[in-house]
Amino acid sequence: MRLAPSILSANAAHLAREVHDVEHMGIDLIHFDVMDGHYVPNITFGANVVAALKKETTLDIDVHLMVKEPDHLIPSFLSAGADMISVHAEACRHLHRTIQLVKDGGVKAGIALNPATPFSQIKPVLSDLDYILIMTVDPGFGGQTFINSMLQKIREVKSFIDAGKLKIDIEVDGGINKLTLPPCLKAGASIIVAGSAIFGQRNRLEAIHTLTRAD
Ligand code: DX5
Ligand code: ZN
Repeated sequence: MRLAPSILSANAAHLAREVHDVEHMGIDLIHFDVMDGHYVPNITFGANVVAALKKETTLDIDVHLMVKEPDHLIPSFLSAGADMISVHAEACRHLHRTIQLVKDGGVKAGIALNPATPFSQIKPVLSDLDYILIMTVDPGFGGQTFINSMLQKIREVKSFIDAGKLKIDIEVDGGINKLTLPPCLKAGASIIVAGSAIFGQRNRLEAIHTLTRAD
């Protein structure tokens, strides 16, 4: 599995210090939750913050855009140094075009699916996709409770990927902790986002070991 701590739960006054704190603790990516106050109720940060932190770390940057109609923002996240960009299926007017924008920028493209959105909705646009982000909470906030019924969606996506021999990773995001992580891995997830279970903990090394041991 690849572990992606979400800086949504980090100390926003010291983001560089927070990233430095965890970057050599066996993690793989840094997850950026970009919220526009429109598609989701919160506002977080934009491409300027990604660009600033890109200079602080060699870890890949995983940008999760919780933004309505994100096409106009994608170029700025590409320039900022994003390595992966996911957009919400529900937020895009022309999802195929949006995926092409990301791919044309030379980075990995993902589609995020809200708990209420069926996998069938994105089956026609799976070509060119590098990963599917299965939301295991409703987007907008850190620290929410994992929705158990999403395990069935992970299994459904995984069996479709395997049957078609597709090279698409499954990322899970929301409510991940030492108890919810193992069933996600068993169901087929390979990229694991964790906000409060890592940055919300005083001892990050212990928090990361707790998650990797739960693997
Ligand atoms: C929720 C975000 C998540 C969030 C996860 O909208 O997409 O990435 O940071 O936080 P936890 O791990 O605390 O549920
Ligand atoms: Zn996220």
